[in-house]
Amino acid sequence: MKNTIRLAAVLLATTVSPVSAESDLRMGERLYQENCASCHGANLEGQPDWRTRLPNGRLPAPPHDASGHTWHHTDRVLFDIVKRGPAAIVGAGYESDMPGYEGVLTDDEITSIVDYIKSTWPDKERAFQSERTREDQQAKP
Ligand code: HEC
Repeated sequence: MKNTIRLAAVLLATTVSPVSAESDLRMGERLYQENCASCHGANLEGQPDWRTRLPNGRLPAPPHDASGHTWHHTDRVLFDIVKRGPAAIVGAGYESDMPGYEGVLTDDEITSIVDYIKSTWPDKERAFQSERTREDQQAKP
């Protein structure tokens, strides 16, 4: 009987929180704090007055929480912004304070950071973002 209970507990624990997924999120959070928090904030709050351009014409870092618009973007766009940097995405001489992380972070590390950011969103924003991502994946040839 005792063993059955213990086995059930182990099975339950594995179903509820797969070990790898959980440590990926923790890695994403750590990498976020190390690489992104200096601009986007330790609590994903962004820089103050983030909608107003700085004197040099560049934008401050927006929040990644639900008050920003990170959750409007598909997985593909978010990954690209982080890997190549906003300037490469917008193109044509656009300047941004955010660097691209290609060569600094691996693709898996970038994905883990994006997954961490997504994990902090309320249900509504998560549902919206995953629906847009699904549409984007279906639209792909
Ligand atoms: C030096 C400051 C700085 C650092 C460090 C930085 N960013 Fe940014 N980030 C910005 C700025 C500024 C923008 C606004 C885009 C622009 O410049 O037009 C931005 C925009 C973004 C966007 C687009 C948000 C949106 O709503 O469109 C994402 C996603 C993003 N950053 C993710 C990250 C991640 C993930 C990291 C860490 C790997 C990171 N950033 C590190 C400054 C920074």
